Amino acid sequence: MGRNYPECGGMKMKKLLVAGPTRLSGTVRIHGAKNSVLPILAACCLCCSPCVLHNCPDIADVRTALAILESLGCKARREGSTLCIDPTGLDRHCVEPRLAGKMRSSVLFLGALLARFSQAELALPGGCPLGDPIDLHVKALSQLGVRFCFEEGRMRAVWHKRLDGDIRLPLPSVGATENLLLACALGKRTVNITGAAREPEIADLIGFLRAAGADISGAGTSSLQICGVSRLHGATYTILPDRIETATYLCMAAGCGGETELLRCDARLLLPVIERLREAGCEISADADRIVLRSSGRLLPLLPVSTAPYPGFPTDAQALLMAAVLKAAGGSEFRETIFERRFLHVPELRKLGADIQVAGSTARVRGVRQLHGAKLRAEDLRGAAALLTASMMAEGESELTGLCHLLRGYEKPEQNLKNLGASIKSVDIPAPFVYNT
Ligand code: EPU
Repeated sequence: MGRNYPECGGMKMKKLLVAGPTRLSGTVRIHGAKNSVLPILAACCLCCSPCVLHNCPDIADVRTALAILESLGCKARREGSTLCIDPTGLDRHCVEPRLAGKMRSSVLFLGALLARFSQAELALPGGCPLGDPIDLHVKALSQLGVRFCFEEGRMRAVWHKRLDGDIRLPLPSVGATENLLLACALGKRTVNITGAAREPEIADLIGFLRAAGADISGAGTSSLQICGVSRLHGATYTILPDRIETATYLCMAAGCGGETELLRCDARLLLPVIERLREAGCEISADADRIVLRSSGRLLPLLPVSTAPYPGFPTDAQALLMAAVLKAAGGSEFRETIFERRFLHVPELRKLGADIQVAGSTARVRGVRQLHGAKLRAEDLRGAAALLTASMMAEGESELTGLCHLLRGYEKPEQNLKNLGASIKSVDIPAPFVYNT
């Protein structure tokens, strides 16, 4: 009998066995963006008729969002990569704590349910252990007339008066920008946001809301104007390609060496990652929806990499690029400026023989000639992908546990990597033997 992951809602516990070093060659098809589909699923709550979403990844976070929608009274059906959401039965404004605690982006139901019912109740968000403050969401919504009350890990929000407003976000929070868009798309008043986040997934959310009849301008810029409308209809929409999944396979191929082709992706969304991989000596060609990367596997060291809000170098690709340069011919430096706890992968990478020193928000990597297999445990989603990358670059067998983090954001990673030639297999983790006395 296998064990279950309590932190992953009872998902069967597995580990990955990876034999390295591997070269990666072949083709991967990129899925729709996790960080687009999650806010867009929350946005379905605002619509008064069914929505059809194409290019939706089948990953654990999307399954959690669907479970939340169903628990609120919506119907959800998957046909391949298409999700059909019927929000006509939506009649609840409380998100079950069991579901809300599973992922950070459950907080997006705050804006969506406020828009629809003028009130929302949900547990404070969980998910990756990167730190979960939502003070910016709360402050901005309070300025627009929402009153909050917090008790025992739950929050209750009620819209007393829907005020017009000019909101200035002190830092470009992706989630706070999305919550404001969701909360204000319905209801007659005008809200201007300055200092908004400019991530492509926000423009995608705006694209969906506009397709459903919303009046929002400024997509892709840091100044957004939302003129609330009285109702939104259903919409059919295609989710944009996942730039972080794309960056993941590029970094894997760069670190392992080989020739990898990515299809259904958009290179324009990850220019800083492509630029850094070229600097590291990879040959990369890109056209409309395809990227081809060739790497010798022995990369050049990088000039310092500093994470930044879009269009800067994405924090979600920091761990991945760090893994790729572990065997580079020299040292590279990474400065993390977005999240505080985003070096959780470093102690695990060291078990493989990586030479990394961390001082505050800076990690210095000295390239080593060889990495060796080890037992590793992932603590967050992108860290998990980085550990997998480094395991494939290491000599001998590695064991990776904490897979529930990986599966929150990647569809069929094992199959994709096998198709590229990796020696990787997942096995059940047996339940511990218990003596009956
Ligand atoms: N922050 C606050 N207060 C707030 C909100 C954010 O201090 O009220 C801080 C955060 O602690 C963090 C920074 O602001 O230090 C940026 O947070 P942001 O709100 O922009 O991030 P998020 O909305 O929680 C999204 C993505 C993350 C991605 C970040 C940054 C989704 C579902 N998540 O998170 O993606 O890293 O933006 O781009 O869109 C992932 O996919 O693995 C992931 C973690």
